[in-house]
Amino acid sequence: MKKVTKAIFPVAGLGTRFLPATKSIPKEIMTLVDRPLIQYAIDEARAAGIKEFIFVTSRGKGALEDYFDHSPVLEQELRKKGKDKLLEVLKTTNMDSGAIAYIRQHKALGLGHAVWCARRLLDPKEPFAVILPDDVIAAEKPCLQQMVEAYEELGATGSMVASMEVPADKVSAYGVLDVKDDMGSTVSVKGMVEKPAPGTEPSNLAVIGRYILDPAVMKNLNQMKSGAGGEIQLTDAIADEIGTERGVYGYRFAGQRFDCGSKAGFLQATISFGLSREDLRDELQEYLDELSAVRAAAQ
Ligand code: G1P
Repeated sequence: MKKVTKAIFPVAGLGTRFLPATKSIPKEIMTLVDRPLIQYAIDEARAAGIKEFIFVTSRGKGALEDYFDHSPVLEQELRKKGKDKLLEVLKTTNMDSGAIAYIRQHKALGLGHAVWCARRLLDPKEPFAVILPDDVIAAEKPCLQQMVEAYEELGATGSMVASMEVPADKVSAYGVLDVKDDMGSTVSVKGMVEKPAPGTEPSNLAVIGRYILDPAVMKNLNQMKSGAGGEIQLTDAIADEIGTERGVYGYRFAGQRFDCGSKAGFLQATISFGLSREDLRDELQEYLDELSAVRAAAQ
């Protein structure tokens, strides 16, 4: 059975929605509680068995490289002070030598183009994963791991995208699936469209930023087809696989997804992750209760 061991993390975006913060820090370094967005993505990939991590970056993303590097001065200082717990925390940010690669997307031509930039770092016969770090998913079993298991159940062939039902007024912001057979968590797909015009959506089952892709998708990207918004869309290259013997599947994951590409989603994730932390839960809950009492009194 073919194993998914490589993952691409497209992190080249300018993050303009978070200006001015993103003027000097990559969006992916912004923190939910005390861990950068990218750390959540990496932890999820590791849990799913990913061994090689490919970052598609752009100018100004150097902080990401530093983040995953050893920091001898900091480590020495913590060791000297006996701060073993913090040393353990730091270990989660280290990568084995050669396990992480950075490649630049020189022009912002779309998500499909970003993924295509990593083509030479992949095995042309193996499926690979793509993780969009903006989509943070809180789940008992990490989302990509759920997908890897479902993908193996299908015989480890074809392409699979994470999906969830979204409200009707939001669906045109996503890639959207046209379902052929609904098998519960897994669905087979007969159509897929990126950011459909309102009223033309085939369903409200949206693509969320986790993918397991057949290498044929990379070949499809070679065509450099211009799609929604004039960009080279990953959705289109996956849709080209529909009707082939490999096929395309959606996977309704179990878990809560936060859209950390939006300010409201980022704040919701911050509160939710704060409340799930033993060291913060009580104080934060107390504050939230106080806040709602004050608001109720004011109404
Ligand atoms: C991207 C994908 C889209 C997907 C979404 C999930 O869109 O192109 O198909 O539904 O991520 O977050 P973006 O959010 O970059 O516009």
